[in-house]
Amino acid sequence: LPPVVTIDGPSGSGKGTIAKLLADRLDFVLLDSGALYRAAALAALNKEVDLSNDKLLTRLAKDLDVSFTLDVGQVQVWLEGCDVTADIRMERVGMAASKVAAIPGVRAALLQRQRDFREAPGLVADGRDMGTTVFPDAPVKIYLTASAEERARRRFTQLRERGVSVSLRDLLEDIRARDAQDMDRAASPLAPAEDAVELDSTGVGIDEVLQRVLLLVRD
Ligand code: CDP
Repeated sequence: LPPVVTIDGPSGSGKGTIAKLLADRLDFVLLDSGALYRAAALAALNKEVDLSNDKLLTRLAKDLDVSFTLDVGQVQVWLEGCDVTADIRMERVGMAASKVAAIPGVRAALLQRQRDFREAPGLVADGRDMGTTVFPDAPVKIYLTASAEERARRRFTQLRERGVSVSLRDLLEDIRARDAQDMDRAASPLAPAEDAVELDSTGVGIDEVLQRVLLLVRD
């Protein structure tokens, strides 16, 4: 089987950015598993499915018509033939994704789809349970963290660059709420794999984090 580098961690830890840079550098396939959960959540919101209806949501995840394509190096996400790349990034969808992701049936339904990304020459898998559940045999596992304050600040800068004005305090509250929701659930709660290397990126720039990750990969 082709090698896998798993990058797990909480919301806003920078794992999406690092996973993308790493995949580009190694010329590996990239799996953004969060995008899969976000697409499932968006489908549920569009269909006005009650987010506590486990049975219906599990069925929806099984039947989910989602695909990923590459456009000048950027991943595009398609839901039922529509480009939802931008839509799935809305905070409302992220929060719904976190709810949908707590349903064991939904996680089971999306498991094989994630494993199917494993292709030569290798895969970089970004998520919450890549190292624990989806690719437990991955040779390199990274658990990327940063303080909640730092993660809120990063999101703040990111949103401001996009012209969105929000308060730092609201963002910090959002981050804490999502952390609580992701860590307190029974199904695949966010936690590092036993054999994962933990990297705290608080106060560390993207380049420096990438260098540290590359050292682990080349080891
Ligand atoms: O961008 P951010 O880190 O906030 O979130 P994401 O990685 O896009 O994932 C959105 C939500 O999906 C998370 O809050 C998790 O609850 C859920 N998720 C998950 O349960 N398992 C994964 N492998 C990926 C995401």
